[in-house]
Amino acid sequence: MLRTSFGSRLLSTSRKSVSVVGSGPSGFYTVCRLLAKSKESLDVTLWEKLPVPFGLSRYGVAPDHPEVKNCEDTFTRCAEEFQTENAAGHKFRFIGNVDIGKDIKLKQLLDCQNAVILSYGCGGDHKLNIPGEDTTNGVFTSREVVSWYNGHPSFAGNEKLNNFDWSRVKRVGIIGNGNVALDLARILLSNQVSEIWAQTDINPLALEKLRTAPIEEVKLIARRDFLHSKFTNKEFRELWELERFGIRGVIRPEFLNLHKLGEASSDRVLKRRIEMITEYMLPFDQRTKKNYKKHRPPEHGLNRQWEMDYLKTPIKVNCNAAGKLNSLTVCDNKMTVDNRVELLSNQTQDYELDVLITSLGYGSNPLDEFKSLDIGFVRNHVANSRGAVLNTENEVIPGLYAAGWIRKGSSGVIASTMADAFEVADTVLQELSTFQPRKNSAIDVAHHTFTTWNDWLKLDAEERRRGREQGKPREKFLSADEMLEFLNKK
Ligand SMILES: Cc1cc2nc3c(=O)[nH]c(=O)nc-3n(C[C@H](O)[C@H](O)[C@H](O)COP(=O)(O)OP(=O)(O)OC[C@H]3O[C@@H](n4cnc5c(N)ncnc54)[C@H](O)[C@@H]3O)c2cc1C
Ligand SMILES: NC(=O)c1ccc[n+]([C@@H]2O[C@H](COP(=O)([O-])OP(=O)(O)OC[C@H]3O[C@@H](n4cnc5c(N)ncnc54)[C@H](OP(=O)(O)O)[C@@H]3O)[C@@H](O)[C@H]2O)c1
Repeated sequence: MLRTSFGSRLLSTSRKSVSVVGSGPSGFYTVCRLLAKSKESLDVTLWEKLPVPFGLSRYGVAPDHPEVKNCEDTFTRCAEEFQTENAAGHKFRFIGNVDIGKDIKLKQLLDCQNAVILSYGCGGDHKLNIPGEDTTNGVFTSREVVSWYNGHPSFAGNEKLNNFDWSRVKRVGIIGNGNVALDLARILLSNQVSEIWAQTDINPLALEKLRTAPIEEVKLIARRDFLHSKFTNKEFRELWELERFGIRGVIRPEFLNLHKLGEASSDRVLKRRIEMITEYMLPFDQRTKKNYKKHRPPEHGLNRQWEMDYLKTPIKVNCNAAGKLNSLTVCDNKMTVDNRVELLSNQTQDYELDVLITSLGYGSNPLDEFKSLDIGFVRNHVANSRGAVLNTENEVIPGLYAAGWIRKGSSGVIASTMADAFEVADTVLQELSTFQPRKNSAIDVAHHTFTTWNDWLKLDAEERRRGREQGKPREKFLSADEMLEFLNKK
């Protein structure tokens, strides 16, 4: 399996050199900007833990949203353009299957590069920290489920998800109402609609399991009120539009005072949201706007549902004697005038559930070396000032930057991640001439298996070929070993 395509010495160059750690949207947009804008000859290396690039564009974005993955075409054009040194003397290199911090130390990179940009995203979970959350069979985090159905190499074979008995799942609770929670609700409720899934690159093993689930209800449980819903309107509309498959939306009137909210607000987004609820809650033929009458619900009516629940704090996960989930205890809340959540502690209720998914945003982690290198890490992101990484004394560490989700925490769509990456790349380019000379010229990597951009192209072509046979855009490799084995045979 050993493929040292680079020989034993890596990154030796006479040009200014920048390494970017993590090849998701923030890393790749940073690379594209550096290469497009640098006036000085530049060597840019993009490191990726997995054998393949693109981060959450490939392993987060929902399989039924292929248009969102168009950013991958931009990244591919950039990689192709700069893979061989161009007229300006710029050169790009992708090095996959390297976990920076483990396989190669961050210190090694810092010593042999003029600048390093951390763009390794948020690869962890947030916790509710309530009894039963970690020990109950049937409780998953959003990252586990999303990575599983997207065929992420570390999750496609996940035993907890694969061995779970999905065929008994009728009621699902999701904590949180961000867009990831809405992705999950849409995917779970449309699990049996093959016209959606047959043409996607969803992990077929996950789909096979999910298909067996006779899901009747998905409840999205938020701790705050309707006004503080985290989802966006486009994704909200997609949920309502599931009515064409017999799936109804429910928001109890006590959580809505639409007329009052609408009148009180000049917020265009809120007004549109209120219009959406008002129209979709009317029987189909009584709707006033064409926009809400695109697809007539099926003859047999609406027999499954999603429900937006508000002002509840989860306090305990309850299981049966076999350790399997049977309910979630929640406590009623009220919002204070300064928009905090206050528990009404004598008002609790139990929701019977077969699966509970915590969708609280993704969590990030410092690399192990942050301590020895005195790199600051605060509240779910690398300490930084406009992308320049700070030490624990809040001083700028020369030559070290952060972009994307690891810079700000797990918030922002691909467009805002792009803007963030461009800002950081521009700062790096402005400061390029001030960087210290490199301490070392190369890294000794004799015993590691890398993947290159050309390797990715081979994997990509094979995934597309396998997909074509089944009328899908691609069928993904489901483990890193399978990818490396395929490349070894080529
Ligand atoms: C479930 C989900 C669905 C989403 N859907 C949409 C959508 O429909 N539309 C939209 O606009 N936005 C969507 N987003 C948001 C979008 O995915 C993010 O804005 C974007 O991916 C953040 O980019 P990033 O590069 O900072 O992080 P990531 O995309 O997470 O990329 C980080 C990369 O770093 C790699 N890495 C991690 N550790 C190391 C290491 N030690 N060494 C080397 N490499 C490492 C990871 O493998 C990964 O490839 C979604 C997010 C999620 C979670
Ligand atoms: N189609 C798309 O464009 C798309 C799809 C998916 C994701 N994304 C983007 O990716 C980013 C991440 O999305 P996300 O849904 O993972 O995160 P998010 O938008 O931050 O939503 C997290 C949800 O979890 C709740 N929460 C957090 N901690 C909690 C706790 N301890 N107890 C109870 N509830 C808690 C939050 O409630 P509070 O609001 O009360 O904190 C919120 O409802 C967002 O910017 C999103 O827009 C975009």
